Amino acid sequence: MADNFLEKRYQEVFGQNGPARKGPSRPTLDTLLHANRSTRGFDKSYKVHRRQLEAIVAVNPLLASSVNMQMLRFRIVTPDETEAVRILQAHTRMGRGLPELHLPFPGTEPEAFIVVCTTVPENASVYIDLGISLQSMMLKAVELGLNGLIIRNFDPADVKQGLGLPLDPVAVIALGRSAEKIELVPLPTGQEHPVSELKYYRENGVHYVPKLQLPDLLI
Ligand SMILES: Cc1cc2nc3c(=O)[nH]c(=O)nc-3n(C[C@H](O)[C@H](O)[C@H](O)COP(=O)(O)O)c2cc1C
Repeated sequence: MADNFLEKRYQEVFGQNGPARKGPSRPTLDTLLHANRSTRGFDKSYKVHRRQLEAIVAVNPLLASSVNMQMLRFRIVTPDETEAVRILQAHTRMGRGLPELHLPFPGTEPEAFIVVCTTVPENASVYIDLGISLQSMMLKAVELGLNGLIIRNFDPADVKQGLGLPLDPVAVIALGRSAEKIELVPLPTGQEHPVSELKYYRENGVHYVPKLQLPDLLI
């Protein structure tokens, strides 16, 4: 549904605390978080539209920001911008934990991107704002039926020059319809996990992502 029109209309009629709305239930945050897996292979038959990318960037005015400075700016790249897509494909790197696979597999490269830039020199507040922004945009993408990958392993100077950006890029999100099967693996609790056990891995075409569980996160 375009930009939650029904939700907005419902709130206009009934106010924020109106009766529970009938109809298809909206996904819970947990559902979105589960579906929000880092995706490194995309279905090229599906073309992401600029409208979708704008809806994703549009979450930003709703977000917390250090001293409300709002230091981040966004460059949308759509699949029809072939030169910008080529530059981003060439200067972003995926799956450092699985170097032997040379991800993405040919034919599954992303063709839609959001490049996040900063208006001020990088500092801790920029990075915290960046994390809030990146994750929020990823969740919006999932809500829209897309998946993505946060990419910090990229060549900022080449991306800045190649795209003619007026600001320094600090992260890239690649977006599209997932062509991957990804599963979370809950790690057993109550024991130490060496770094090797935290690494993501692939078996029979499935990408597995080990995650620590609540008892091991509490200190
Ligand atoms: C700040 C940040 C930077 C990341 N940079 C990259 C990257 O450059 N390339 C990549 O393949 N994945 C990158 N990732 C994705 C992580 O590898 C991924 O989050 C992790 O493997 C866990 O998988 P999950 O997101 O499905 O839980 C990044 C994630 C974050 C949060």
